[in-house]
Amino acid sequence: MNILFLGDVTARSGRDAVMRRLPKLKQETSADFTIVNGENAAHGKGITSSIYRQLIEAGADVVTLGNHAFSKSEICSRMEECPYLIRPANLEPKEDGRAWIVRECHGKKIAVVNVLGSIFMDAAAEDPFVTMDSLLEEIDADLIICDFHAEATAEKELFLRVYHDRLAAIIGTHTHVQTADEQIYHGCAYISDAGMCGPFDSILGRDCVEVIDRMVHKQLTKYKPSQAEAMISGVVIEVDESTCRAVSIRRIQERP
Ligand code: FE2
Repeated sequence: MNILFLGDVTARSGRDAVMRRLPKLKQETSADFTIVNGENAAHGKGITSSIYRQLIEAGADVVTLGNHAFSKSEICSRMEECPYLIRPANLEPKEDGRAWIVRECHGKKIAVVNVLGSIFMDAAAEDPFVTMDSLLEEIDADLIICDFHAEATAEKELFLRVYHDRLAAIIGTHTHVQTADEQIYHGCAYISDAGMCGPFDSILGRDCVEVIDRMVHKQLTKYKPSQAEAMISGVVIEVDESTCRAVSIRRIQERP
């Protein structure tokens, strides 16, 4: 079976690009199961319940999040109305929303988990290794896919070395820059970062002029997502249904 994973959907142009492109992209990649990281979908930070619904209607089976999971207050009270939305298992407050989900595909139980890294992340989160260990005790599934939302590539590579035998895929998100280190490591598909579905002419999705004014000219600016046309980034993972292990991973990157 083929699993399509799209990296951080960022701002309006990223949302529009995913809505427009996802149905066809699923056909072209023969995707049986689709995971979309919606962490930055609402104005560059967080998600709303209506954007979640749009991503599901466009073809996502599961929407994952990240350090901005609770940035929009609306979603905090609506998580229960979003059955295929998962928040990082180790992000506080842990009471809100689901930490993992199991969906069936081709008669196999696919679990999707979302875990935050600990290095250079300004979010209140439990140690990702403690969290992953307890998730593995809890989850009953044929294969488990982890969206590891983290900044440091070293921590992501470490995560792979620790969990490759128990996870079918570890897909890094958060940096918005796709890495070229995709690999199958003993049956576990891995990439340090899947990249962003968001404005191409931007600084990680943010308006270039706004960032220059803030960082170079030391002006007090208000966060502003770029309105430039979006790129699409992600990976397609092929899983052997007899072993439930990954056999290939391929990068997708479409620029405007
Ligand atoms: Fe993030």
